[in-house]
Amino acid sequence: MEREFLCRYGVYQIYPISFCDSDGDGKGDLAGIIGKLDYLASLGIRTLWLSPIYPSPMWDMGYDIADYFNINPAFGTMADFERLMEETRKRGMRVIMDLVVNHTSDRHPWFRKALEDPNSPYRDYYIFRPGKGKDGRNPPNNWTSTFFGSAWKEVPNEKGMYYLHLYSEHQPDLNWENESVYQAVRKVVEYWMDKGVYGFRCDVISEICKESFEDGKKGSLTKPTGHEHYIATPGCHRILKRLRKEVIEPRHGVLIGECYGVERDQASAFLDEELDTLFGFEITDPGLFRKRMRPKDLKRILVSWQGLSCNGNYFENHDQHRSVGKYVQEGAFEKEGAKMLITLLCALKGVPFFFQGEEIGSKDYRSLSLKESHDVVRKFLDAFLKGYHVPKPLRDYLSRKYGRDDARAPMAFASREGHGFTKPNVQPWQKFNELSDRINVDIQEKDETSVLNYFRECLRLRQSDDALSLGDIQFLESDPEVLLFLRVSEDKKRLCVFNLSEKEKDIPKVVLENETRRILISNYWQSEKDDSLHPYECRIYKVN
Ligand code: NOJ
Repeated sequence: MEREFLCRYGVYQIYPISFCDSDGDGKGDLAGIIGKLDYLASLGIRTLWLSPIYPSPMWDMGYDIADYFNINPAFGTMADFERLMEETRKRGMRVIMDLVVNHTSDRHPWFRKALEDPNSPYRDYYIFRPGKGKDGRNPPNNWTSTFFGSAWKEVPNEKGMYYLHLYSEHQPDLNWENESVYQAVRKVVEYWMDKGVYGFRCDVISEICKESFEDGKKGSLTKPTGHEHYIATPGCHRILKRLRKEVIEPRHGVLIGECYGVERDQASAFLDEELDTLFGFEITDPGLFRKRMRPKDLKRILVSWQGLSCNGNYFENHDQHRSVGKYVQEGAFEKEGAKMLITLLCALKGVPFFFQGEEIGSKDYRSLSLKESHDVVRKFLDAFLKGYHVPKPLRDYLSRKYGRDDARAPMAFASREGHGFTKPNVQPWQKFNELSDRINVDIQEKDETSVLNYFRECLRLRQSDDALSLGDIQFLESDPEVLLFLRVSEDKKRLCVFNLSEKEKDIPKVVLENETRRILISNYWQSEKDDSLHPYECRIYKVN
């Protein structure tokens, strides 16, 4: 039931600090979100996922939680949160919180107590291990952090003792072998669900349980050393099954898993009795020296992950570059490209996820220097590469490539000063994208052909159509850069055609023969019978 709701209506991710600033401090907040609920409702959005809004030192922009039971004062108060719940309820919307429980902030009282007193029960909430070698001067194993460098930090004032951090040293990993950790997280989940939250997007949930602490196979820039010892372990599946059964299911909630490091053939296991849907990562990577994913790779990856019972389909989020430029070429056909990607999300089987600004075809920054960046990945990566004497141009390239600033630019609602994100004259926490004057909600509201108006139409189509939202998917033979598939429900059949490339393409004749068709949506105007496709052209046909 709940999975069906997600599949039909999709999810819209809000990155709170960059969505809408109501009080003029340059940072988005809960009152700002409330002020935009009618806008979101006008898009057809029914489920909001909020990136973390808990108190946090913001080392990793809130993915370092210092208190699971409160609201970060920068975003407002618990009363604001309760008002948000009330206002979303009135509009038939649901709210999903981010649950970050692979690690906490190093400011979390549990970790502070664990450091203050090695005999405290909180010591076992985390993963402490003695180092190796003389006086334990080497870390316990060779694992590296996803944020580069060793995954172990020596405990201040305890020579030879280390704690594990798969992310920054300010994000110590929790020890899920400890029953008290499960019970503590269970309380967190119950607390927010009692406040009316619909469910959770579970941060890097695939790595919470470490199976062994042996040295790992040598990794790479994108695959940390040691990951084979903690990705998708039996322990992780056990915990998820238990959480689902004991807490989520009785409350009719949902669990969405960020399955970092999980290969396609490991993913299905998460969807049986654990998660409603999940995010894989193959879709995010065009290759080390490629900015744009090749259409044939995009096709291959999409087809492969559609084999799951309920994939989380996404092109953007707060960790990724904008999809225009990444999956479609910037330039002459970028508007058609942006619409094609939106149509894909609305046509594929599974749950469509949209990120704030995707509905207007937002693009990456043209310039945001390392100095102006707030992203730890960019900073850590640059420092790490300096250690290897990597030349500056290559460092700059990699820092832009793996940096996570682009999607985090403040939302552009208007051309005027402050862009409708904040008040005029206020410095936003991170500078506006240079294109905000040109690509924004206000301008697109007035343009019938805009990406924004197309988004509305496309999402409505999915939501009102059982075949598109809940039907089976069947792929048809086609050019390697053209994606052709049917979505089929009991009494409906839709033919979905996507030219993933910027070249002219043909639809194989046989596909358009024999049946009567009517176009339900397309990003171009054309006749129903036309079997040639323009750059990035897509069509969804009703087939009888
Ligand atoms: C995934 C989140 O999306 C990312 O922003 C964060 O840095 C890591 N998990 C660590 O929590």
